[in-house]
Amino acid sequence: MSTERHVLVTAGPTREAIDPVRYLSNESSGRMGFAIAEAAVKAGHRATLIAGPVDLPTPKGVERVDVVSARDMLAALEDHFPSADALYMAAAVADYRPAQRHAGKWKVKESGADSVSLELVRNPDLVKTIARTKGERRVIAFALETSDGERRALAKLQAKGADWIVLNDPSALGAGRTTVTILGADGSRQHFEDRTKAQVAESLIALLDE
Ligand code: CTP
Repeated sequence: MSTERHVLVTAGPTREAIDPVRYLSNESSGRMGFAIAEAAVKAGHRATLIAGPVDLPTPKGVERVDVVSARDMLAALEDHFPSADALYMAAAVADYRPAQRHAGKWKVKESGADSVSLELVRNPDLVKTIARTKGERRVIAFALETSDGERRALAKLQAKGADWIVLNDPSALGAGRTTVTILGADGSRQHFEDRTKAQVAESLIALLDE
């Protein structure tokens, strides 16, 4: 029986507003993060799930905090990380946001131009920012790579100051099954081929007992 811990999980995309009705976002379904929060509760832990805009039911026993943008997600992490023992950063955070959020609809066609530009500014790297204060807490980051996956994932593991990084294949997006490689800062490597997200989530929660 493992010790009860407070597990913090982020899931889903972030949404970066252009104006009141338009935004930039991505295809993340949130399913991996929701499965991790569910697996945490099943293993006897307390779970807080910080969710971007997704259409998924809250798993039983999970405390859910809904957020929209990357900066909202950072504020929620700053609220909840101090009381957590582990962070699973499964959210697909937008790396950039529109430099300007128009107060009313962006009347872009009014200029008559055939081509327009949208200026973007960098969002903070949430997991890197939060991992700086981690102390004894465990931080698990995620990477989705299309080529040279393990090398790139290991570079991200170090740059972000995480304890483990979960390397996903792009076929995982929105799918029920997934293939992942879990790479540890201690040099460990575990590969899981064609598993359900619930099975992968259980293995990820088991990392806390290592
Ligand atoms: N992440 C984050 N803050 C960001 C961007 C990503 O915390 N602004 C986290 C994600 O939650 C994930 C990991 O960092 O745990 C993904 O790493 P990242 O390098 O940002 O991945 P991508 O943006 O998907 O990859 P790439 O830079 O190769 O496009």
